[in-house]
Amino acid sequence: MLDAASKAFFHLIAQSRTLKKMASRYGMRSQASFARRFIAGEQIDEAIAAAGKAAARGVLITLDLLGESVTNLDGAAAATREYLDVVEAMIASGIERNISLKLTQLGLDVDKATAIDNIRKILERAEPEGFFIRIDMESSAYTDVTLEIFETLWRHGYRQIGVVLQSALYRTEERDLARIIALGARIRLVKGAYREPKSVAHQKKADVDAAYARMMRTLITEGHYPALATHDPRMIEEARQWARDHGVASDRFEFQMLFGIRRDLQATLVNAGYRVRVYIPFGREWFPYFMRRLGERPANTLFVVRSVLGESG
Ligand code: FDA
Repeated sequence: MLDAASKAFFHLIAQSRTLKKMASRYGMRSQASFARRFIAGEQIDEAIAAAGKAAARGVLITLDLLGESVTNLDGAAAATREYLDVVEAMIASGIERNISLKLTQLGLDVDKATAIDNIRKILERAEPEGFFIRIDMESSAYTDVTLEIFETLWRHGYRQIGVVLQSALYRTEERDLARIIALGARIRLVKGAYREPKSVAHQKKADVDAAYARMMRTLITEGHYPALATHDPRMIEEARQWARDHGVASDRFEFQMLFGIRRDLQATLVNAGYRVRVYIPFGREWFPYFMRRLGERPANTLFVVRSVLGESG
């Protein structure tokens, strides 16, 4: 699944403007369009509806307004306003108050101080309303600055925030995991969705998985309500076993999965008394997210081709 070559291939075609245009035209056209397998829709109402359905299945949610790599200050300001609108819509709808966001969406590529100002605007509105805000982790070019911003916000007293660490990166196990645990912050552990060079990341899936398993165990026993974000049944089984063996109650951590993936496993876990949160992405800027999902599982491409052929018939 995490094969480096397949990630590299999908990363490359994600740069294609023609493909992006075509996908944007067809991907969300109808309820049956292919992008809807992984994306709740382009509008907040669709995300709220998906959240309602998840809640009815006993699943917790986090909403992600898709967007990344904003290249100018106006774009960053617009994304911030959109996020503030999302916060208002979530309050009005009564769904669970939990969002995930990316710092490059808020202008990190343009100006770090602006990105900090923008996330603070969102936090100032959302935290008093009981929101939890997870800062997603982007490619390794952003790990340092993302953690630095996260730690600065934490020092300034924001406590309803959490961060993401990737087991693919050597640095996570070497230094980041222990430091963020020591801070007392909530960590979401993932394998890592980005194509990374050998100098910074494990290239073999077996090594990424082994690192994931080691850090997952540490988080279960020493972390602060960690989120184990994976669809990997072996990891999940191991987490359950480790928690049982170490007397860690099932409400001291949660599993997280992506919208549209392994709903069967989500249901099994909920029925067994575990907390499961589903990450619900929505918005117009869905193409890069969508391509990362294809890169994780090339078999998904067949599904896309079939849907496109089906629709054009
Ligand atoms: P793995 O790739 O080993 O797959 C295990 C099984 O899961 C597969 O056999 C298959 O059944 C299923 N599966 C996995 N991916 C699938 C797909 N795309 N389509 C269909 N089935 C699939 N990454 C990151 O770099 N930064 C981040 O902030 C986040 N945030 C995040 C939040 C949440 C809630 C989740 C679940 C994941 C992320 N990720 C992420 C993505 C993560 O890094 C990773 O790329 C994916 O979760 C896939 O890895 P798995 O751990 O699921 O295992």
